[in-house]
Amino acid sequence: PLVSMKEMLIKANEGSYAVGQFNVNNLEYAQAILQAAQEENSPVILGVSEGAARYIGGFKTVVLMIEGLMHDYNITVPVAIHLDHGSSYQKCAEAIHAGFTSVMIDGSHHPLEENIALTKKVVELAHFHGVSVEAELGRIGGQEDDLIVDDAEAAYAIPAECDQLVRETGVDCFAPALGSVHGPYKGEPNLGFDRMKEVMELTKVPLVLHGGTGIPTKDIQKAISLGTAKINVNTENQIASAKKIREVLADNPEMYDPRKFLGPARETIKQTVSGKMREFGSSNQA
Ligand code: G3H
Ligand code: ZN
Repeated sequence: PLVSMKEMLIKANEGSYAVGQFNVNNLEYAQAILQAAQEENSPVILGVSEGAARYIGGFKTVVLMIEGLMHDYNITVPVAIHLDHGSSYQKCAEAIHAGFTSVMIDGSHHPLEENIALTKKVVELAHFHGVSVEAELGRIGGQEDDLIVDDAEAAYAIPAECDQLVRETGVDCFAPALGSVHGPYKGEPNLGFDRMKEVMELTKVPLVLHGGTGIPTKDIQKAISLGTAKINVNTENQIASAKKIREVLADNPEMYDPRKFLGPARETIKQTVSGKMREFGSSNQA
């Protein structure tokens, strides 16, 4: 069924695992992620950025596409449709009214008080509709779609500010920027685990780890042990599927039926997502 993230993430914290947010870039991603979730018997969060929604057609198309697939594939595991890095109250409201079950309001580029005021407004609307909310503090580096944060701008979240934001807004989960990066890492990731522990002890809400691509398993496990209940992955699926398409087309220069190269790419995404579900411990937790 379509659900918000709220129960999913509380259960994940209690069971010491994390639910993956896998970003939907097009139809094949939605198919692959839903199939992996059903086969792994895992809850799943379908992340949709504003850019991806625009590419697909709009928020309504996203919701109807996912609902259609859930019906035709007989999906019985919990699924959340989540706006990834929502940029404004307006965008969050549009997503909620189109049927998204969860939104992120990314006010991380605003000063603390403005971030809090914005997030609070989104929480009021979202909770009225039974929709869960994720907020961010500090700045996650790297690039995802239109969101580009260079090294100098990237900033670690301050635990006391995290506590204030979570307390004053009532968000359901929270993404403190603690050194993770969108896109490939330059060298080994250096996550602020001490601060992560502090943030969890202060806020007591499920934490979210963005930039899941390229984080070693030991760090994933450590993050989960410190309260991380949601891990976002996008680039890893993009790299794997693009590689597959290049290979298939290189091996078959005469090929032109998109199903013949997008089908194998979809299979690759499914394998990648299944692997993450096992790594995050969400398999068989539906
Ligand atoms: O919001 C989405 C994620 O944080 C994805 O990060 O592309 O580095 O896996 P990633
Ligand atoms: Zn992110």
